[in-house]
Formats: sequence, C-alpha cells, structure tokens
Amino acid sequence: MSQEHIHRLDGRIFGDPGADGMVHRAFLRAEGYTAEEVRRHPVIGICTSWSELNPCNSGFRDLAAAVKRGVEAAGGLALEFPTISISEPFSRPSSMYLRNLLAMDVEETILASPIDGVVLLGGCDKTVPGVLMGAISAGTPAVLVTAGPRPVACWQGEPTTVDAQWDVIDQRRVGALSDADWAAFEGVIHSGPGTCNVMGTATTMAAIGELLGFALPGSALAPAAAPERDRIAEDSGRLIVDVVSRGVPPRSRVTLESLENAVRVTCALGGSTNALIHLEAIAGRAGLRIGHERLREWSRSTPFITDVKPNGRALLSDLETAGGIPAVAARIRHLLHEHVATADGRTWGEVFDAMAPVALGGPIADAAEPLTPDGGISVLRGSLAPGGAVMKLAGAASAARRHRGRAVVFDGVADMWSKIDREDLDVDADSVLVLRGVGVKGGPGIPEVGHVPIPAKLLRAGVTDMLRVTDARMSGTSSGSVVLHVSPEAAVGGPLALVRDGDEIELDTHAGRLDLLVPAEELAARAPMTGGVAPPRRGWGSLYARHALQPDEGCDFDFLVDEDLRGREASA
Ligand code: FES
Ligand code: MG
Repeated sequence: MSQEHIHRLDGRIFGDPGADGMVHRAFLRAEGYTAEEVRRHPVIGICTSWSELNPCNSGFRDLAAAVKRGVEAAGGLALEFPTISISEPFSRPSSMYLRNLLAMDVEETILASPIDGVVLLGGCDKTVPGVLMGAISAGTPAVLVTAGPRPVACWQGEPTTVDAQWDVIDQRRVGALSDADWAAFEGVIHSGPGTCNVMGTATTMAAIGELLGFALPGSALAPAAAPERDRIAEDSGRLIVDVVSRGVPPRSRVTLESLENAVRVTCALGGSTNALIHLEAIAGRAGLRIGHERLREWSRSTPFITDVKPNGRALLSDLETAGGIPAVAARIRHLLHEHVATADGRTWGEVFDAMAPVALGGPIADAAEPLTPDGGISVLRGSLAPGGAVMKLAGAASAARRHRGRAVVFDGVADMWSKIDREDLDVDADSVLVLRGVGVKGGPGIPEVGHVPIPAKLLRAGVTDMLRVTDARMSGTSSGSVVLHVSPEAAVGGPLALVRDGDEIELDTHAGRLDLLVPAEELAARAPMTGGVAPPRRGWGSLYARHALQPDEGCDFDFLVDEDLRGREASA
C-alpha cells in the first residue's frame, strides 16, 4: 500500500494534556479561539484555492465562511488554509503545467497539519482535479465544494456565455468587430465570480466531483453567488464531520465503477475532453488505470443527451432547472453502477429513486433518442496516434467524423500565427490543420491551444469548422472538430513529428481511428520535426520535463502515481 506516511498528524494533538497539546492550543488561542473551541473535535481543514490571481475562484472567501459555520454547527473546529491557485487564463506556460504542483502542495499540507478531515474548495479547471489528487494521496477524509458558474452576461441584448468570446475574437481577426464593441465586450462578458458558465472543464469537473462521491449530489450547477451555493457549502461543513466519524478514506471513493459512472456522465453531458486526462490522473492516485480500451468502450456506448452550451442551446441554469447532473445521470442510469456511494452516504440508485421523473422536452434528451448517434466523445487510436487521442463529437460538424484531407502543418503556436491568416497559405476547407510540438513536454504542459483558428481567408468565405489534429488540449468552452491529446506527442518522437504538408490524414470516429496515410518505408526515411526548447536544468521545469506522463496516463508525474500501479500492466 502506498498510504504509509512517515509523518502524519491529526487533530487529536489538540486534546493532548501534555506539552504538545498545550503548545498547539496556545498557538491557536492567538487567533482568538476560546479554551473550549481549541478542544473541539474533529479538526477540519478548509483548503481554499481563493486567489486574486484566479477570478473564477474569487467567491471562496464567502464559501469558506459558510463551510466553517457547518463544521462548527456539527461540533468540529474548522481551520482555513490556502493552497496555490491556478487560473486558466493567467497561467503560463499552461495551467496543466502546475496541476501536479497544486496536488503535491495539498497532499503535503494535509499530511503535515493537525487535521482529521478536509473540505476542498476548487473551481477553475485545474483546481478541482488538483485538490482531489492531493487529498486522495494524503488519505484524509475529504469533501469537495466547487465554486459554481458565474452569472450569464448580456451582450448586444442577448444572454451571453463565455464561449461567445471565441466568435468575438474571430470577428475581430477578420476586421468585422468595431473598436467600441471590442471594448464593450471586455466589460460585460465576465459578470461576477464563478467558473465558466457553460459545460466547460470546470463544470465537467464539478459534475465528476458529484459522481465520484466527493461533492454533494446536485451541487455542481448552483450559481456562484446564489444563496443555494452558501447552503451547499454549509451542508458540506456538516457533512465532513460525518465523513470523518465514518472514517471514509478518499481513495475508497475511486473505484473502476465510480470512474465508469464519471466517464459515462461526462460523455452524456458532452463534457470537456480535459476531464478524461484528469480522471486518469485521479484513477492513478488510487492505484487504478482506466486505459484506452475501457475509455473507448464506455464512450462509444454512452449517448450524448445534454443540449447545453457550448455544444448546444440551453444555459446551465436551464439544465439546473431540469434537475442538474443527477437528472442527466438518471437518464442513463441503466448504464451506471447504482450502488456507488454519493458524498452524503446514499447510493446513486437511492438518489435516482427519490427524484421526480426527468421532464421531456427540456435540455436533457431521452437516452433512446440522443442528440447524436455516436456519443459525445470519441476515443481514437491509429498510426498517427498509437497512444491514443480524443475528439469531442458534441458540437462538432457531423461531416468531420469521417474525413480524409491534406495536412497543413504548424510547428508550434508562433509558427501557426505567422501563417494562419496569410492569403497564400495553401489550404482549403477540406484540409486538416495540424498543430504539433505543444504537448506535455513540447508545450510544455499541454496548453489549451489545440483549437486552431480557421484560416482568415476561409473564415471570410464562411467556413466555420475544419478538422484539426494536435498534441495540445483545448478549452472545454470550445467546440469544433478537433482531435486532441495525440499521443505520443511530437516532442517525444510520436508519428505526429513526421507529418509533412500535403500528407493525407484520415479520421474515422465510427471505427475509432486516426491514421497517417503515408507508407511506413517513407516515414522511416523522414527526419522528425526539429525545434522546441531544451528543458530547463533546474526548478519545477526540470522536474516536469523528467517526470510528466503523456495524456493517456493522466499527465501526472510518474513518481506520484500510486505505488500499487507503477510498473503494472496498463490493463490492470
Ligand atoms: Fe476559470 Fe473557465 S477560466 S473556469
Ligand atoms: Mg480551460
């Protein structure tokens, strides 16, 4: 077992009648706690990723106070502590580059601290998997409270969500948006605290928090600043005291059954492709491996049923009114393991039985009449992606699901921007735009740059979607025909590094294939893509370059994956 730690402290130290206990209590009294309060049990840490460098998580000061009320109402003592925060828009070279650092910080802080349980406050994309990974490895009972989506904006008289930014940026690129509108958009699009207000990565991870039994069922979609979210936080404070008394280790939440439920609901939601990377990383912290075959089987047999932005029409608030994540899960309950426990101790089957029937005609389609015939996410493999790749089908043009076209290759983001809008770029609507050198090692940190913009001359001609292939990720707020996480990446010598302009690439999502139609003998004679920067010799960059795993293994560090799994066959 991996959960043997050389040092482990818990809240019983505050009850110690000797010197250790006195010293601990005395220091806490300095914060104004009374003699009675410092003897309360259990001691609950509130791990907050609040930061002014992370606007999506800016509501956590209030939510931490609400959690604290809940803990105290249940007789515990709550002590808030910070972890590093990772903002999607502000973090360079990418947010994924720092996720494992956050997870290590959470794990070590929990282990080093006199606490019996922890409430994790995560919102913006990486902060949810980061806190979960750290807590699972630490082994201390944990409950998750997510930030909730930010309010919907009003732009040009219409309700407008974050995904509108991609179209606004494209309009600006081709000169179709005025200076005044450009400035006005900046002022309205993010109208308050909270995470991106569509089914992007943050919302998908909040849903997964529910499915894995860390967050209260039905908690993912309550708006960031609503009283309902305060109530969720307070209830979660009471809940952690109960979870501690029941002694539920977080690792026990993560089973192949709960992971399957999470993957299937992600596919039913048309959720973010980033979630598949995070789920593999979470699995790895519990000594499990999902692996390509399971992902492929679960995704292809799960209907896409959620007509919500950015892939569909409804707002998250419409989905919340229709019953939220539990309602989507209920619609595919025949595919789920109903005995899996929720955060509040009930099983999912009991939650479904207690729910009103999910209304027809709303944003949640019937499983027998899905929005697309072939699921929300396609898991691919082939000569161009021997280690796998993924494509979000939800929101992608159906024509792109089977496509053969000529490659137009870009070596990194700078190369792409230097060429993409040129009139003489040799590209047409059937071309396949290849962006490489932007994976885990190449990025570094597999940045969200995979949504290669449509070349300006095609955009002006009315082209709105093209097949793109990349070793990068893309924002969960994006949609379009983009094959992502191609593995192994170009920077470590994957076949993507051998592609040349004009090569034929073939995608077949029905067959789950992505192939480079160039004879093997010819490929063997080619020199791979060159360039890229040498890995740093010191600091985090050096650690990252040496230890980060490819996306099909969750992008965790090899030495952070549970010992039970390391060295074991991928089919475990
Ligand atoms: Fe933070 Fe989307 S940028 S949740
Ligand atoms: Mg993102």
